[in-house]
Amino acid sequence: MQRATAQSEKTLREMHVNMTRLGRLFWSIVGIGFGAGLMMLAALPLAADDKSDKAKPPAAISPAVDASQYAGSDACKTCHEDQFKTIDGTRHYQINTLKTPAVGGQADHGCEGCHGPGSAHVAAGGDKAKIFVFQEHSRQETSARCLNCHGESHQQSRFAQSAHDSSEVGCLDCHSPHHAKEKEHLLAQSEPQLCYGCHTAAKADFAKPYHHRVNEGLVQCNDCHNPHGTATVRQVRTLPSGDAVCYKCHVDKQGPFVYEHVPVKTDGCGSCHTPHGSTSPRLLKVSLVNMMCLQCHTFPVRGPIGPVHNQSAKYQACTMCHGQIHGSNFSNVFFK
Ligand code: HEC
Ligand code: HEC
Ligand code: HEC
Ligand code: HEC
Ligand code: HEC
Ligand code: HEC
Ligand code: HEC
Ligand code: HEC
Ligand code: HEC
Ligand code: HEC
Repeated sequence: MQRATAQSEKTLREMHVNMTRLGRLFWSIVGIGFGAGLMMLAALPLAADDKSDKAKPPAAISPAVDASQYAGSDACKTCHEDQFKTIDGTRHYQINTLKTPAVGGQADHGCEGCHGPGSAHVAAGGDKAKIFVFQEHSRQETSARCLNCHGESHQQSRFAQSAHDSSEVGCLDCHSPHHAKEKEHLLAQSEPQLCYGCHTAAKADFAKPYHHRVNEGLVQCNDCHNPHGTATVRQVRTLPSGDAVCYKCHVDKQGPFVYEHVPVKTDGCGSCHTPHGSTSPRLLKVSLVNMMCLQCHTFPVRGPIGPVHNQSAKYQACTMCHGQIHGSNFSNVFFK
């Protein structure tokens, strides 16, 4: 119960941070007040933006959209056939009333959901100043525009708290609606190259002799990280149960065991393993197993007959005897 409460408090707090952050962004971008109704409109630089709306009750600010401001995707197609082709048939073409105000017909579709109402642009024969051009805006601005639709229920809702957002990495560093190299998630580059482009240390780690087979396509960065941010440090995913992401694939290590090896549960897998890659077998942080154990355990320890745990070769391979090092149901010293 306590956990559930703490969790929902946290969620609320995060939502709050998220909302304030978004609010600030919208203020600076569109220069409009922040309210539920206006949030829906924030994607669109409507002439009707009016700060005094803020004071009015929600009913008064419900989107009274002038359908004539929209040209419809078919109109865009006549001059931008190439871009049309990359959107046609995708989920972005099917966007309708999700967040953009419903105006009916073609105007409900694709292009203007992202680029804003375009009839002025069309009337002017393609005046760039009369349409939202992503390449001419900052990362914060373009991300905010994407977040108009992807900011709430989606996993991107944490983006404002991510290391990526705070380091000026925006949606378009990883995604490209028109020029995606990988269609599935509209990725600007396929993985892991997408991530290696900026994370050279991770690239070096995965090139080490013992590594999770990310380069081989068996495991993905996203299996462990959420590039859009998480509530945890290093954008590391957790399971819905709140447990470490490692258990997703290494279920046998989860237990519960009658005899737990304390650090597995308290400090986590990272107390003995590196997650990316290592020069030591089993991704251990320390090349000699005994040296690792001895970081926490001291000699001599109690043994079966006298002081057995001396430094002799026999005792160096600790896991020869203490084989169930992650926990055991049968042995309090993890023999089996
Ligand atoms: C999901 C949001 C989104 C939708 C929907 C969308 N665009 Fe774009 N558009 C972008 C982004 C972002 C860019 C910047 C280039 C990129 O990252 O792909 C862009 C760039 C462009 C450009 C500049 C040239 C280029 O290819 O980079 C044109 C022209 C354009 N879009 C037209 C359109 C038309 C026409 C449609 C409808 C068929 C459309 N866009 C639908 C987001 C969108
Ligand atoms: C009558 C032809 C025409 C129609 C219709 C039209 N455009 Fe354009 N568009 C242009 C021209 C011309 C440019 C200017 C290209 C330039 O200046 O380099 C342009 C530029 C753009 C750009 C900026 C491209 C860049 O290179 O950065 C975007 C985005 C865009 N249009 C989106 C749209 C959308 C969305 C629609 C539909 C609502 C639309 N256009 C309808 C002719 C048209
Ligand atoms: C007008 C609303 C709207 C805007 C603005 C918008 N999207 Fe989307 N996007 C959608 C909808 C709806 C879907 C499909 C439903 C879903 O998967 O949630 C979608 C799907 C996606 C997908 C998943 C595609 C797939 O095949 O898995 C990506 C990636 C994406 N959007 C990125 C972006 C980016 C980047 C921007 C900003 C340039 C953006 N979107 C702007 C509404 C929008
Ligand atoms: C650091 C790279 C990165 C950034 C920045 C990023 N994404 Fe993604 N995004 C990904 C990758 C990789 C995937 C596919 C794997 C996955 O499902 O997480 C993805 C998946 C998605 C999806 C489809 C999955 C879903 O949740 O429905 C959407 C939508 C999306 N991103 C939107 C966005 C938006 C909007 C932004 C900006 C606020 C953004 N992304 C920023 C890397 C990124
Ligand atoms: C098997 C799970 C797993 C995979 C796969 C994985 N990571 Fe990690 N990564 C982690 C964990 C756990 C941490 C946190 C380590 C810590 O806090 O010491 C981390 C840390 C990081 C960090 C923070 C700096 C550092 O090295 O500690 C970056 C950046 C990073 N990962 C990027 C990536 C990229 C890029 C990929 C894919 C090429 C990737 N990770 C794949 C689990 C993984
Ligand atoms: C455009 C450059 C860029 C791309 C592409 C990129 N990142 Fe990052 N990433 C950064 C920056 C900058 C930071 C913040 C500084 C740092 O910790 O390195 C960061 C932070 C992170 C962190 C958190 C590290 C921490 O210390 O908290 C993880 C995890 C991460 N990125 C994973 C990924 C993954 C996975 C991908 C591919 C889907 C990816 N990144 C793509 C630039 C990028
Ligand atoms: C998406 C699934 C997945 C996740 C998540 C995952 N692993 Fe793995 N792990 C694997 C696979 C598959 C192997 C087998 C390695 C191989 O054969 O390349 C493996 C192997 C290992 C090994 C043994 C390496 C060896 O040399 O035998 C260790 C240790 C390990 N993982 C630790 C972790 C830790 C710690 C985490 C959490 C940070 C984690 N794993 C998360 C899939 C995963
Ligand atoms: C107290 C140190 C320690 C902790 C904590 C720990 N491990 Fe290990 N792990 C080891 C050692 C030592 C080995 C090598 C065992 C051997 O040589 O047979 C190993 C081996 C492994 C292996 C490969 C062999 C096998 O048994 O499948 C995997 C996978 C693994 N660990 C995953 C994990 C995961 C997941 C966690 C977190 C839940 C974790 N480990 C926590 C010490 C630890
Ligand atoms: C990060 C610190 C840490 C590492 C590394 C570590 N242990 Fe432990 N281990 C502990 C703690 C803490 C306990 C619980 C000790 C206690 O309750 O007195 C424990 C308990 C044990 C026990 C159960 C007996 C007892 O004293 O309760 C054995 C056996 C054991 N460890 C063996 C190993 C071996 C073998 C390794 C190396 C593969 C190892 N440990 C690595 C911290 C560690
Ligand atoms: C040849 C088998 C063998 C090897 C190898 C071995 N041990 Fe043990 N260990 C034992 C036996 C037997 C016990 C006593 C079990 C009991 O008391 O029931 C024990 C007990 C322990 C205990 C718990 C007793 C205490 O004093 O708290 C720890 C911790 C421990 N060993 C750590 C290690 C470490 C660390 C290594 C590697 C440097 C290691 N062992 C190598 C057989 C071995």
